[in-house]
Amino acid sequence: MNENTVMYQITETSEFMMSFVIITKENNAIIIDGGAPEDMPLLKQYIGGRHVSAWILTHAHLDHIGGFISEAKRNGLADFNPSRVYFNFPPLSLAEEGQVIDREATRRDFSESIPAFLEIYPTLQGKKTILHQGDRLQFDEVTIDVLFTWRKELLNNPMNDSSTVFRLSTPNKSVLFLGDLGPEGGDILFRESRHLLKSDMVQMAHHGQAGVGLEVYAAIMPEACIWCSNEKIFENGEAFWGPMETEELRRRGWIRMYGTALTRQWMDILGVKTHYVSKDGTNKIIL
Ligand SMILES: [Fe+2]
Repeated sequence: MNENTVMYQITETSEFMMSFVIITKENNAIIIDGGAPEDMPLLKQYIGGRHVSAWILTHAHLDHIGGFISEAKRNGLADFNPSRVYFNFPPLSLAEEGQVIDREATRRDFSESIPAFLEIYPTLQGKKTILHQGDRLQFDEVTIDVLFTWRKELLNNPMNDSSTVFRLSTPNKSVLFLGDLGPEGGDILFRESRHLLKSDMVQMAHHGQAGVGLEVYAAIMPEACIWCSNEKIFENGEAFWGPMETEELRRRGWIRMYGTALTRQWMDILGVKTHYVSKDGTNKIIL
């Protein structure tokens, strides 16, 4: 038996990827996302040959699941051998729905990862569980409550807003995982689940920029923030993101582009004193 539940926020080999490993008191591992293919060797080290009870994927962007796809392709996840894989991804056809503001960018976005995921889908046979809002999972002393999954009306920023949001808790601590949820997804999360959000820690939405609004963080009221951010994102005042760089898309109000400077001000206002940032190295967090 381990004395504590421990969560590692794995540092970036590829820039600003998202990867967490939770080791339960019974020495089982839970992986969240995992990052890109080049992040796999370090992830493997932190798993250290333990049994992987669950591999949870927040959404299909490659800075989150690129490594998962490469491992599934290479040898069917044999190096990790997770008992179950949890996710809920939208279909490729969502990029073709009526109200998508930037059709080409959305098509590009979806075609980068969804077809690759569908290719490895057969290897998940007998292992996969599709997550839904309201689901509760239990792994030893770790409870996971699913608070949000994608919906077809969120089309301005559909891949980020397809992030599965969940609250991970032990008898001592709780962490809210926001994935890359954007402002509009955050509006729905707040409307439906504000009473469920309060947590000791929060994984900052979309690497700390262009994510959910202040009211979501105020409902979480975290003591500590966990940022999957490289130097550029963490230190940069303005949100940066290729597709929003055209003035036309800004005018059309694609999404609210909060930069990390503003998000950090919000956290100061909320009185947060502790920040874990992936760029600084692997962070060990006792839960
Ligand atoms: Fe991301």
